[in-house]
Amino acid sequence: MTSTQPSDQTPDTSAQPDASAQHADAATQHPSAADLSAEAAAPRVGVHEMTRAQALSATRERRLWDSRAESWDVAGSSGLSRVVEAVVQACAASDSPVALDLGCGSGQVTLPLAPDCSHVIAVDVSAPSLERLDAKARERGIENIQTVASPIEALELPAGSIDLVVTNYALHHLRDADKELVLSSCMAWLRPGGRLVIGDMMFGRGASAEDRAIIASKVRAFVSRGPAGWWRLAKNAVRFSLRMREKPMTAERWEAMVRAAGYADVSVTRILSEACVLTASKPLAG
Ligand SMILES: C[S@@+](CC[C@H](N)C(=O)[O-])C[C@H]1O[C@@H](n2cnc3c(N)ncnc32)[C@H](O)[C@@H]1O
Repeated sequence: MTSTQPSDQTPDTSAQPDASAQHADAATQHPSAADLSAEAAAPRVGVHEMTRAQALSATRERRLWDSRAESWDVAGSSGLSRVVEAVVQACAASDSPVALDLGCGSGQVTLPLAPDCSHVIAVDVSAPSLERLDAKARERGIENIQTVASPIEALELPAGSIDLVVTNYALHHLRDADKELVLSSCMAWLRPGGRLVIGDMMFGRGASAEDRAIIASKVRAFVSRGPAGWWRLAKNAVRFSLRMREKPMTAERWEAMVRAAGYADVSVTRILSEACVLTASKPLAG
């Protein structure tokens, strides 16, 4: 087993709101069982300084997902199995020796994807989620996953080093300006012809009949859970309307943002009432 060392580009933590945030923003590359050939193909991962707003957002997400690492792994993620399946299927259309999974959680997409890749870089802000991913990979004898504990917003990779960027149910946690920045970073990291696959909740705050139907079905699901569901509904209603935690965008807005970032072959498929899979590719040079 060969462990990869963290980049020598240590993150500047000056923008961090507290000392505990430093852990979240250190691009800790967990020892993975990468074999020599996989390591040869592995791009060097670094991190850069974040703005204060990015650091605050990443710290909030890290605290939330550290506390949810187990519940998401054993129960929460099962509700998304159809989305995960569609995302993995969309990835299968790619020639993807080196893949990058952004906001990988405990490996819901990373693990089924890994056998088709020479190397997968799995990035998440939550170290406990990555520990779960590492443990599952070890159990299954998967040796080509490199886990990186870092906010997506701080990530740095060599230009043209990635064949496939995939992300499932993670980007709606980023501020819209950061979604845009991530799309343009991914454009730089992808090789020409490389692919982008985004699975995520895609709806707005009620401007269209489709949005209203999606929101109504989510409200019904919370209400049916009794008092605990009502409490979550009240909390979520405030957060959603103020875009405090979950910041989904409509499929149309995603499509426009991805096109504006320069991607080609953009296509969106609705998988569940709230969730879509978007696929796109980096144009070939010329
Ligand atoms: C809903 S879970 C999805 C996990 C997994 N991709 C799946 O399909 O089940 C969202 C994940 O995004 C991660 N996340 C949220 N904000 C992040 C950020 N700014 N940088 C890195 N990871 C982030 C969380 O830690 C969490 O593991």
